[in-house]
Amino acid sequence: MTTDLTEAEIGLIREKIKEKYTGVAATGAGGCFRYPTGIDGLRKLGYPEDILRQFPPAVLELFCGVGNPFSLGPLYPGESVLDLGCGAGVDTFIAATMVGPRGRVVGLDVTPEMIAKARANLALTGLKNVAFDVGEAESLPFPNDSFDAVISNGVINLTVDKEKVLQEVHRVLKPGGRLMVADMVLMSALPEERAGRVENWFQ
Ligand SMILES: C[S@@+](CC[C@H](N)C(=O)[O-])C[C@H]1O[C@@H](n2cnc3c(N)ncnc32)[C@H](O)[C@@H]1O
Repeated sequence: MTTDLTEAEIGLIREKIKEKYTGVAATGAGGCFRYPTGIDGLRKLGYPEDILRQFPPAVLELFCGVGNPFSLGPLYPGESVLDLGCGAGVDTFIAATMVGPRGRVVGLDVTPEMIAKARANLALTGLKNVAFDVGEAESLPFPNDSFDAVISNGVINLTVDKEKVLQEVHRVLKPGGRLMVADMVLMSALPEERAGRVENWFQ
Protein backbone atom coordinates (compact mmCIF):
# COMPACT_ATOMS: atom_id res chain seq x y z
CA MET A 1 0.00 0.00 0.00
CA THR A 2 1.48 3.33 -1.10
CA THR A 3 0.11 5.48 1.72
CA ASP A 4 1.05 6.48 5.25
CA LEU A 5 -2.58 6.83 6.34
CA THR A 6 -3.56 4.94 9.50
CA GLU A 7 -6.09 2.08 9.35
CA ALA A 8 -8.57 4.33 11.17
CA GLU A 9 -8.12 7.09 8.56
CA ILE A 10 -8.52 4.62 5.71
CA GLY A 11 -11.71 3.29 7.33
CA LEU A 12 -13.04 6.83 7.72
CA ILE A 13 -12.29 7.73 4.08
CA ARG A 14 -14.09 4.61 2.82
CA GLU A 15 -17.06 5.17 5.13
CA LYS A 16 -17.44 8.85 4.12
CA ILE A 17 -17.19 8.10 0.40
CA LYS A 18 -19.95 5.49 0.70
CA GLU A 19 -21.99 7.96 2.78
CA LYS A 20 -21.64 10.62 0.07
CA TYR A 21 -22.77 8.32 -2.75
CA THR A 22 -25.58 6.84 -0.66
CA GLY A 23 -26.82 10.44 -0.39
CA VAL A 24 -26.40 11.02 -4.13
CA ALA A 25 -28.48 7.90 -4.84
CA ALA A 26 -31.20 9.05 -2.43
CA THR A 27 -31.51 12.74 -3.27
CA GLY A 28 -29.76 13.30 -6.60
CA ALA A 29 -26.39 14.66 -7.68
CA GLY A 30 -27.39 18.35 -7.62
CA GLY A 31 -25.24 20.40 -5.22
CA CYS A 32 -22.95 17.45 -4.36
CA PHE A 33 -20.20 18.18 -6.91
CA ARG A 34 -18.04 21.08 -8.10
CA TYR A 35 -18.71 20.15 -11.72
CA PRO A 36 -21.86 19.67 -13.80
CA THR A 37 -23.60 16.31 -13.47
CA GLY A 38 -26.50 14.53 -15.20
CA ILE A 39 -27.34 15.55 -18.76
CA ASP A 40 -25.50 18.90 -18.39
CA GLY A 41 -22.30 17.10 -17.41
CA LEU A 42 -22.63 14.58 -20.24
CA ARG A 43 -23.10 17.38 -22.82
CA LYS A 44 -20.23 19.42 -21.43
CA LEU A 45 -17.94 16.37 -21.64
CA GLY A 46 -18.79 15.87 -25.31
CA TYR A 47 -20.95 12.74 -25.17
CA PRO A 48 -22.69 12.72 -28.59
CA GLU A 49 -26.38 13.68 -28.59
CA ASP A 50 -27.35 10.66 -30.71
CA ILE A 51 -25.96 8.36 -28.00
CA LEU A 52 -27.69 10.25 -25.17
CA ARG A 53 -31.02 10.21 -27.04
CA GLN A 54 -31.05 6.40 -26.85
CA PHE A 55 -31.84 6.53 -23.12
CA PRO A 56 -34.80 7.87 -21.11
CA PRO A 57 -33.79 11.18 -19.41
CA ALA A 58 -34.22 9.61 -15.94
CA VAL A 59 -31.40 7.16 -16.70
CA LEU A 60 -28.95 10.05 -17.23
CA GLU A 61 -29.83 12.02 -14.08
CA LEU A 62 -27.24 10.56 -11.69
CA PHE A 63 -24.25 10.70 -14.06
CA CYS A 64 -21.35 12.15 -12.09
CA GLY A 65 -18.35 11.27 -14.24
CA VAL A 66 -15.48 13.69 -14.79
CA GLY A 67 -14.58 12.88 -18.40
CA ASN A 68 -15.48 10.65 -21.33
CA PRO A 69 -13.67 7.28 -21.32
CA PHE A 70 -15.11 6.50 -24.78
CA SER A 71 -13.00 9.34 -26.22
CA LEU A 72 -9.96 7.09 -25.62
CA GLY A 73 -10.90 4.45 -28.16
CA PRO A 74 -13.68 2.18 -29.40
CA LEU A 75 -15.34 -0.83 -27.83
CA TYR A 76 -16.04 -3.57 -30.34
CA PRO A 77 -19.12 -5.80 -30.88
CA GLY A 78 -18.88 -8.99 -28.83
CA GLU A 79 -16.45 -7.64 -26.23
CA SER A 80 -16.75 -8.11 -22.45
CA VAL A 81 -16.35 -4.88 -20.49
CA LEU A 82 -16.12 -3.90 -16.81
CA ASP A 83 -17.32 -0.43 -15.74
CA LEU A 84 -15.33 0.12 -12.55
CA GLY A 85 -17.23 2.40 -10.14
CA CYS A 86 -20.27 2.46 -12.42
CA GLY A 87 -22.48 4.64 -10.22
CA ALA A 88 -26.02 4.68 -11.65
CA GLY A 89 -24.78 3.05 -14.84
CA VAL A 90 -24.73 5.64 -17.65
CA ASP A 91 -21.32 4.60 -19.06
CA THR A 92 -22.28 0.94 -18.50
CA PHE A 93 -25.33 1.37 -20.75
CA ILE A 94 -23.38 3.26 -23.42
CA ALA A 95 -20.76 0.49 -23.42
CA ALA A 96 -23.54 -2.12 -23.71
CA THR A 97 -24.87 -0.49 -26.89
CA MET A 98 -21.32 -0.51 -28.33
CA VAL A 99 -20.57 -4.20 -27.63
CA GLY A 100 -24.05 -5.25 -28.76
CA PRO A 101 -26.04 -8.40 -27.96
CA ARG A 102 -23.03 -10.73 -28.37
CA GLY A 103 -21.05 -8.68 -25.83
CA ARG A 104 -21.60 -8.12 -22.11
CA VAL A 105 -20.94 -5.33 -19.64
CA VAL A 106 -20.66 -5.58 -15.85
CA GLY A 107 -21.00 -2.47 -13.69
CA LEU A 108 -19.33 -2.67 -10.28
CA ASP A 109 -19.69 -0.14 -7.47
CA VAL A 110 -18.91 -0.12 -3.76
CA THR A 111 -22.12 1.74 -2.80
CA PRO A 112 -25.13 -0.64 -2.70
CA GLU A 113 -27.58 2.26 -3.15
CA MET A 114 -25.89 3.29 -6.42
CA ILE A 115 -26.12 -0.31 -7.65
CA ALA A 116 -29.84 -0.33 -6.74
CA LYS A 117 -30.26 2.83 -8.87
CA ALA A 118 -28.27 1.26 -11.70
CA ARG A 119 -30.51 -1.82 -11.65
CA ALA A 120 -33.65 0.34 -11.67
CA ASN A 121 -32.20 2.29 -14.62
CA LEU A 122 -31.35 -0.96 -16.41
CA ALA A 123 -35.04 -1.90 -16.31
CA LEU A 124 -35.80 1.40 -18.11
CA THR A 125 -33.27 0.74 -20.89
CA GLY A 126 -34.42 -2.74 -21.91
CA LEU A 127 -30.77 -3.81 -22.38
CA LYS A 128 -30.18 -7.55 -21.92
CA ASN A 129 -26.37 -7.67 -21.90
CA VAL A 130 -25.74 -5.79 -18.62
CA ALA A 131 -25.29 -6.95 -15.01
CA PHE A 132 -24.49 -4.95 -11.88
CA ASP A 133 -22.60 -6.04 -8.77
CA VAL A 134 -21.61 -4.46 -5.46
CA GLY A 135 -17.84 -4.66 -4.93
CA GLU A 136 -14.56 -2.87 -4.29
CA ALA A 137 -12.10 -1.69 -6.91
CA GLU A 138 -9.28 -2.88 -4.63
CA SER A 139 -10.45 -6.51 -4.68
CA LEU A 140 -12.40 -7.26 -7.83
CA PRO A 141 -14.82 -10.21 -7.58
CA PHE A 142 -13.86 -11.65 -10.99
CA PRO A 143 -11.47 -14.37 -12.19
CA ASN A 144 -8.26 -13.56 -14.04
CA ASP A 145 -8.56 -12.67 -17.76
CA SER A 146 -12.31 -11.85 -17.59
CA PHE A 147 -12.57 -8.66 -19.69
CA ASP A 148 -11.47 -7.20 -23.02
CA ALA A 149 -11.71 -3.67 -21.63
CA VAL A 150 -12.14 -1.89 -18.30
CA ILE A 151 -13.69 1.59 -18.35
CA SER A 152 -13.80 3.89 -15.32
CA ASN A 153 -14.99 7.46 -14.82
CA GLY A 154 -14.21 9.54 -11.73
CA VAL A 155 -13.50 6.60 -9.43
CA ILE A 156 -9.80 5.77 -9.06
CA ASN A 157 -9.12 9.19 -7.48
CA LEU A 158 -11.46 8.08 -4.66
CA THR A 159 -9.61 4.84 -3.92
CA VAL A 160 -7.00 4.72 -1.17
CA ASP A 161 -4.71 2.06 -2.66
CA LYS A 162 -4.41 3.01 -6.34
CA GLU A 163 -1.55 0.58 -6.93
CA LYS A 164 -3.77 -2.31 -5.79
CA VAL A 165 -6.63 -1.09 -8.00
CA LEU A 166 -4.36 -1.09 -11.06
CA GLN A 167 -3.00 -4.55 -10.16
CA GLU A 168 -6.57 -5.83 -9.93
CA VAL A 169 -7.53 -4.24 -13.25
CA HIS A 170 -4.47 -5.86 -14.86
CA ARG A 171 -5.43 -9.23 -13.35
CA VAL A 172 -9.01 -9.22 -14.67
CA LEU A 173 -8.07 -7.93 -18.13
CA LYS A 174 -7.34 -10.49 -20.83
CA PRO A 175 -3.87 -10.29 -22.38
CA GLY A 176 -3.92 -7.24 -24.67
CA GLY A 177 -6.98 -5.84 -22.86
CA ARG A 178 -7.49 -2.07 -22.57
CA LEU A 179 -8.01 0.27 -19.60
CA MET A 180 -9.91 3.45 -20.52
CA VAL A 181 -9.97 5.86 -17.59
CA ALA A 182 -11.32 9.36 -17.12
CA ASP A 183 -10.31 10.78 -13.77
CA MET A 184 -9.05 13.72 -11.74
CA VAL A 185 -5.36 14.17 -11.00
CA LEU A 186 -3.44 16.77 -9.04
CA MET A 187 -1.41 19.01 -11.34
CA SER A 188 0.64 20.46 -8.48
CA ALA A 189 1.14 19.95 -4.76
CA LEU A 190 -1.77 20.92 -2.51
CA PRO A 191 -1.29 24.03 -0.35
CA GLU A 192 0.37 23.08 2.93
CA GLU A 193 -2.76 23.69 5.03
CA ARG A 194 -4.72 21.17 2.88
CA ALA A 195 -2.03 18.58 2.20
CA GLY A 196 -2.46 15.24 3.97
CA ARG A 197 -5.97 16.02 5.21
CA VAL A 198 -8.30 13.05 5.31
CA GLU A 199 -11.21 15.38 4.39
CA ASN A 200 -9.65 15.97 0.93
CA TRP A 201 -10.91 12.55 -0.12
CA PHE A 202 -14.60 13.16 0.25
CA GLN A 203 -15.11 16.90 -0.18
C1 LIG B 1 -17.88 10.31 -9.23
S1 LIG B 1 -18.89 8.86 -9.09
C2 LIG B 1 -18.84 8.28 -10.77
C3 LIG B 1 -19.90 7.28 -11.05
C4 LIG B 1 -19.98 6.84 -12.52
N1 LIG B 1 -18.71 6.31 -12.99
C5 LIG B 1 -20.43 7.97 -13.41
O1 LIG B 1 -19.65 8.36 -14.29
O2 LIG B 1 -21.55 8.45 -13.22
C6 LIG B 1 -17.81 7.73 -8.24
C7 LIG B 1 -18.38 6.33 -7.97
O3 LIG B 1 -17.31 5.51 -7.50
C8 LIG B 1 -17.80 4.64 -6.50
N2 LIG B 1 -16.64 4.21 -5.71
C9 LIG B 1 -15.90 4.95 -4.83
N3 LIG B 1 -14.91 4.22 -4.29
C10 LIG B 1 -15.01 2.97 -4.85
C11 LIG B 1 -14.27 1.75 -4.71
N4 LIG B 1 -13.24 1.67 -3.87
N5 LIG B 1 -14.65 0.68 -5.42
C12 LIG B 1 -15.72 0.74 -6.27
N6 LIG B 1 -16.47 1.86 -6.44
C13 LIG B 1 -16.11 2.97 -5.76
C14 LIG B 1 -18.82 5.50 -5.76
O4 LIG B 1 -19.73 4.71 -5.02
C15 LIG B 1 -19.45 6.28 -6.91
O5 LIG B 1 -20.60 5.63 -7.40
